[in-house]
Amino acid sequence: MIQTQRFVRSLQRSRMSLEREDRPEVFALCGREWDLLDEVFAPVFCPSTAIAVDFLGLDGPVPPPVPRGASFLEIGCGSGVTAVMAALAGYDHVVAADISPRAVENAAVNAERHGVEDRLRAVHSDLFSGLASDERFDVVFWSSNYVLAPEDYQYQSVHERAYVDTGYRAHRRFLEQVPHWLTPTGSALLHFSDRGDLVELDRIAGQSGRELSLLRSVRVKEPEYGGDVVEHMLFEIRAADRGAGASVPRGSVITA
Ligand SMILES: C[S@@+](CC[C@H](N)C(=O)[O-])C[C@H]1O[C@@H](n2cnc3c(N)ncnc32)[C@H](O)[C@@H]1O
Repeated sequence: MIQTQRFVRSLQRSRMSLEREDRPEVFALCGREWDLLDEVFAPVFCPSTAIAVDFLGLDGPVPPPVPRGASFLEIGCGSGVTAVMAALAGYDHVVAADISPRAVENAAVNAERHGVEDRLRAVHSDLFSGLASDERFDVVFWSSNYVLAPEDYQYQSVHERAYVDTGYRAHRRFLEQVPHWLTPTGSALLHFSDRGDLVELDRIAGQSGRELSLLRSVRVKEPEYGGDVVEHMLFEIRAADRGAGASVPRGSVITA
């Protein structure tokens, strides 16, 4: 069942984040400065980008070693922070994809700002549609628009797609299609939160022959949103037939 209030509030947040007077043109995150173009998801008004970088271990004092030649695909790159951090952490081949043309431009600008334009390609893409069919990745990651919107809701702007997904249609396609884009040992990762509908996500995963395995979770107070405490989760998407024993139980909580 759609939680109307969440969906309406998320759309209000989408609008507010574009109109706020304190919306920066340059912001600081992960000890670096980043350009933020108009119409692009603003990592400063919500902790999810910083949490994603932390979940992936891209920002620690000693980031985990990345094997030579490793590849990383970020679906929904927004301003490009996570994709650029992946390139800086040692991924040799990074693709930053977004359905928003402005976000694609923003990721390219930030790749250049941080000197990784030689190994980061920004692509306009509805999920995987902008990729060459033979591309494969060691990691595919999406920090998704996890709030469920009614199936018949008509997006008023591409920016709203950063916040809500109508009928979880994009999530369904992601769950169905992501294995195709992985190397044989690759991982498909989804950053979700309890603002989303986990029961529905799990149902769609089951229908798509996938299971969700919780790798990390963290509960964070979001002062910008009235002090709500939100649980952010990092799931690995696996083939359902790989056995429930592979799942990591909920509660492997990290601190923000
Ligand atoms: C929550 S924002 C995260 C942005 C960025 N990863 C960050 O953390 O700052 C979700 C992003 O997914 C993008 N997106 C939504 N639907 C998409 C789709 N079908 N294909 C590609 N990108 C999509 C949005 O445009 C938005 O940039």
